[in-house]
Amino acid sequence: MSPAAADGPRTVAVGIAHAPVLAALHALAFADPDISGPAWDEDAFARLLLLPGTAAFLALAGEEPAGLVLLRTAADEAEILTIGTAPAARGRGIGTDLLRAAATAACDSGAQAMFLEVAATNAPAQRLYARAGFETVGRRRGYYHTGAGRVDALVLRRALP
Ligand SMILES: CC(C)(COP(=O)(O)OP(=O)(O)OC[C@H]1O[C@@H](n2cnc3c(N)ncnc32)[C@H](O)[C@@H]1OP(=O)(O)O)[C@@H](O)C(=O)NCCC(=O)NCCS
Repeated sequence: MSPAAADGPRTVAVGIAHAPVLAALHALAFADPDISGPAWDEDAFARLLLLPGTAAFLALAGEEPAGLVLLRTAADEAEILTIGTAPAARGRGIGTDLLRAAATAACDSGAQAMFLEVAATNAPAQRLYARAGFETVGRRRGYYHTGAGRVDALVLRRALP
């Protein structure tokens, strides 16, 4: 491994003990009121991580938490519940790494497809998902409330692996 790769972000599986870190990072990633995402605090992350089939990954830049993804797998379907990168760490492949970690975990749990919802106005997230092989399979009208008003959610699906 090259020195640059060794210094780059790495992705690690985390559990309920990391609920405070996950909540803080989630709040940072979704601080823009025009970006729609669930309003989850530390208790919400802890409750979700107690459910069977739920898994979380953190991306670490050095020792600093820089991104998170939360995944739920049930039978042969997985859902990305939330994903985000700290604003200062965006554009370095962390979102891509987190999606890869989630897809691998979903496959390992027996999922054959992965789903997620994204605001129709969230262009950076849609580019990330398109690059990762997701396709739009549905639309929920007026699903999100954002600073800019009601926004449709697109339902995206990707076959696994
Ligand atoms: C969507 C989000 C998770 C993407 O995270 P990210 O870590 O920036 O994702 P990546 O770095 O993998 O990709 C982002 C861009 O960086 C580019 N990039 C990736 N690795 C790179 C590298 N090593 N060097 C330069 N550019 C790179 C990608 O090509 C991509 O460019 P594009 O958006 O112009 O196509 C992030 O913008 C975010 O947290 N947004 C707010 C929360 C949110 O919207 N979450 C999703 C809700 S559904």
